[in-house]
Amino acid sequence: MTLLFLPLDIDVSNLKFTQDSESTKAGSWMDYWDASFVSEKASVDSGLDQVLKQLPFTKITRIFHKVQTTAVPSHLDVQPKMIMEPGEMDHIKSLEPAGYRIVLKGQADSLSVYNGKEWINTILPSVPCCYVLNSTSAYHKLKEDLGRETIYIRGYLDPEGHNAMIERSLAKYKDHAVYKY
Ligand SMILES: [Fe+2]
Repeated sequence: MTLLFLPLDIDVSNLKFTQDSESTKAGSWMDYWDASFVSEKASVDSGLDQVLKQLPFTKITRIFHKVQTTAVPSHLDVQPKMIMEPGEMDHIKSLEPAGYRIVLKGQADSLSVYNGKEWINTILPSVPCCYVLNSTSAYHKLKEDLGRETIYIRGYLDPEGHNAMIERSLAKYKDHAVYKY
């Protein structure tokens, strides 16, 4: 069974993220979001670095702070046309679900994931929360949840740590998981 979505067993209780006012804006492909890069300073100042330490990244290639400005139609997060390092796409595909996301603010039921047959309305156990999404094959959309804030992270993962994270989180949140039909 292909896992598409799962909340993660991560402690985000000390996270109080505020974006750096001088942060660099991200590309225009994010028409549905006001998106900006997260600097090392903003990460350390907000406690985000302590959350990132719990995630199995060996190298982060993209980290954005995103504020939702309208409902988001169906899409995939990682597509071949995107700017990526050589081998990054294959790495992500080999470890899917490999798209780590942190919801900072917003409703727990905004995200829907297409399981190949129907749209499944996902429920986060709480907000803030961390979840993992299959970023190359899980079509997903968001209902209007204006001001919803998320942290988007892409990069390379330690396979063992990643698998352990999925296993541990499945044990806790299996009722929230969405699988490909
Ligand atoms: Fe997305």
